[in-house]
Amino acid sequence: MAVARGQPAGGGMRLLQVAAEIFPWVKTGGLGDVVAALPPALARAGADVRLLLPGYPPLLEALEAARVVASLGSTFGAATVEVRRGRLPGLDLPVYLIDSPFLYDRPGNPYLTPDRGDWPDNPRRFGLLGWVAAHLGSGDVDRDWRADLVHAHDWHAALACAHLALHPGPRPASVFTVHNLAFVGEFDPLQLGELQLPRSTFAPEGLEFHGKGSFMKAGLYYADQLTTVSPTYAHEIQTSAFGCGFEGLLMRRSPVLAGILNGVDTTVWNPATDPHLEARYDSGNLAGKAQVKAALQRSLGLRADPQAMLVGVVTRLAYQKGVDLLVQSMRQLAGERVQLALLGSGDPQIERDLAQLAGELPEAVSVSFGYDDALSHRIIAGADVVAVPSRYEPCGLTQLYGLRYGSAPVVHAVGGLADTVVDASEANLQADRATGFAFVSATEAALHAALHRAQRLHADPPRWRQLMRRAMAQDFSWDEAAARYLALFRAVTGRLAR
Ligand code: ADP
Ligand code: GLC
Repeated sequence: MAVARGQPAGGGMRLLQVAAEIFPWVKTGGLGDVVAALPPALARAGADVRLLLPGYPPLLEALEAARVVASLGSTFGAATVEVRRGRLPGLDLPVYLIDSPFLYDRPGNPYLTPDRGDWPDNPRRFGLLGWVAAHLGSGDVDRDWRADLVHAHDWHAALACAHLALHPGPRPASVFTVHNLAFVGEFDPLQLGELQLPRSTFAPEGLEFHGKGSFMKAGLYYADQLTTVSPTYAHEIQTSAFGCGFEGLLMRRSPVLAGILNGVDTTVWNPATDPHLEARYDSGNLAGKAQVKAALQRSLGLRADPQAMLVGVVTRLAYQKGVDLLVQSMRQLAGERVQLALLGSGDPQIERDLAQLAGELPEAVSVSFGYDDALSHRIIAGADVVAVPSRYEPCGLTQLYGLRYGSAPVVHAVGGLADTVVDASEANLQADRATGFAFVSATEAALHAALHRAQRLHADPPRWRQLMRRAMAQDFSWDEAAARYLALFRAVTGRLAR
């Protein structure tokens, strides 16, 4: 599609964004933040953007001006499936929800039972999402609209790419974005029929993966274009260390694999306007940050010590996130006026280890379990550093929030963490480029050394303030990410039209 001078970059391109979560209604991690921010940024750039999500109760309840655009009857194991179109408050674009209480009205989180096991019928629940996406994109669901391009996020939406590739005749292009390669979306090949997929797709040149079907493999194999959420992760996943067994396919597809960094939604994450904080601040007036830190120490029962270096962590508690590396390190650092405020939920063993640490060091370590949006803001803002010791990290958002809030990130230099944090080496400090602390191996010793470096710099207030201001000046804007996606979307629709 040629874009005339002066025309907005989106040029009216019709885009269907397909995903399984969206902040603030349904969120388990960064995907929810991305799906709330990228579509509006694409719309601001002039694209005709619509969203498709499973009809979880909080979304159906919030949907305004809703009307049924299609009744699909009994399908994917559900007695009734309807597609509704409406608007979600605060989101200025049309939203489609798949209304099927049997499939989506469940306790627990979108993917897991209350006992944290996968719902056994997840292949059907997300198979339906991909199937509706392909048909909505092709114009068969809402008679008023069809898409030029369907953008599927993570394995939950990946089957859309398979259905589109198998569609005879003209069809929308497909883009598949990997947010986390480790979740492969496995299913029994006996289910191919109920997922509306031909048996021929169950092949190495198809969606077969180690003798099973895989939603992830379907996305990686069938999409016209692949992206992931940072340039470094785009390279890493072509290696055996990070490729989760997909590295061969990803190497082969590298000409159509791009890395585009996520952004920060500054309507949600901005220390100058954040309603969750006791005081607001910006880089020109940092007094508010000290107040937020003092209030946080007080409310979490930490020692009221303005000079202590407070480490903040907000995370899913999963092996990926490397929180276990922090536990030992904190035992050594607590004697050196380093404190930890951690908010997370997930793996029961990691929770037990953290609870034990907090029991040993009550004035230096606070751990809060569960999901708490307000506390996540107060920790990111009140902390001096935000630690992200992930073993791998496709992009990572909490380090970006840390930068914006003047809370220097301490990160393992992988994936998006490597792309967004500039290490406080002496040379980078001298050149006023440093924004945080990066370490190169996922070991306790390396994390410990990085925290120790942070603590030494923290004890030097003028140099620390310089680091904070440089961090706060970073601009990870969704508008820039949207412009990159749109350039890619134009290239892929152009390729398909030839
Ligand atoms: P991932 O998507 O791998 O979990 P990201 O860093 O991309 O990691 O995004 C995590 C998002 O989830 C951030 O917005 C973070 O603030 C939020 N988050 C993680 N754990 C919690 C929690 N326990 N309570 C509130 N927010 C959380
Ligand atoms: C995934 C990744 C995380 C990324 C997020 C949003 O959950 O683990 O690194 O920031 O998706 O893209």
